[in-house]
Amino acid sequence: MLNALNEIETAGLAALESVNTADELEAWRVAYIGTKGKIRSVMPMMKEVAKEDKGVVGKRLNEVKSALESGFKAKQATLGAGSSSSTGPMIDMTEPGIIDTHALGREHIITRVRGELVEIFARLGFEVAQGPELEDETHNFAKLNIPDAHPARDPIDNFYVDDPRKVDTPRMLRSQTSTVQIRTMEDAVAKGWGPPIKIVSPGRVYRPDTVDATHSFMFHQIEGLYIDRNVSMSDLMSTLLQFARAYFGEQAEVRLRPSFFPFTEPSAEFDMMIALKPDEPAQWVELGGCGMVDPNVLKACNIDPEEWSGFAFGFGIERIAMGKYAIPDIRMLFENDVRFLQRV
Ligand code: DAH
Repeated sequence: MLNALNEIETAGLAALESVNTADELEAWRVAYIGTKGKIRSVMPMMKEVAKEDKGVVGKRLNEVKSALESGFKAKQATLGAGSSSSTGPMIDMTEPGIIDTHALGREHIITRVRGELVEIFARLGFEVAQGPELEDETHNFAKLNIPDAHPARDPIDNFYVDDPRKVDTPRMLRSQTSTVQIRTMEDAVAKGWGPPIKIVSPGRVYRPDTVDATHSFMFHQIEGLYIDRNVSMSDLMSTLLQFARAYFGEQAEVRLRPSFFPFTEPSAEFDMMIALKPDEPAQWVELGGCGMVDPNVLKACNIDPEEWSGFAFGFGIERIAMGKYAIPDIRMLFENDVRFLQRV
């Protein structure tokens, strides 16, 4: 057996010398150290070795085996052969890898803008309030003074979860963050912490609109509500102007256009001069609605409109982001093209 081992070692190492390709090396591995190779084939001979010689022969077997294995590894390293079927260029597996700086993720632009808006309103004394995205008609419509027959309630224009014809208070995905006005006033009255109430509420809203450059079936709004004694329209206007200047710069141009919302009286639309494309002139862009909270809304939340008054506003966060970062198409915000996400 010792002779056989010596021969295998000599022949094996000699054969390894003349190996030049990964394929040849693989053939050599199979022939010498593979599971059906020469080393394995001499192992059964151990049974015939006299007891007193087993130690010596066993030791030699291990020596030869590891000599061939380390010869193999050394050859593999010089050939750079990692695979048995490499016909392509050799890759030296022992070379240090290319140290790539891993691309770091970042906040989505909407998350960032939402944070920036909350930060500005926090400086103006607004706290953040939250409400559920799965809402009911009471909070999405009824208590916001939106009557039963109002077109905004049309099932075609809302994502109902329950059938409005079959359920008394059908659930729906909220179509506006104005729901959080109601929830916050209810909570303040129930727990006795307000009014005064001064909150903003950023969050997702859902409407089955056909998707185009300015519409999406899911988007974000930020709602504002300030209830106190003697709150007036001029408080609303100064708050909006301060916000616009803080976010878009001192030169920000804003305007209010008379409008109508069931939950405010008077109501207005809030526009800003914004260039949506970097090389185009600025134009008036509607950011959202606002107004003085309708007395019916206060009453629905058990707040006495003789004692308290307030203003409210609701802006589209995508609109604001598109204006601030000159994003021409709302779909870019949701397609998650990394080239876009890295630019904004
Ligand atoms: N909820 C309105 C919308 O989604 C926006 C809005 C208008 C909110 C006037 C307000 C408001 O708080 O006072 O179109």
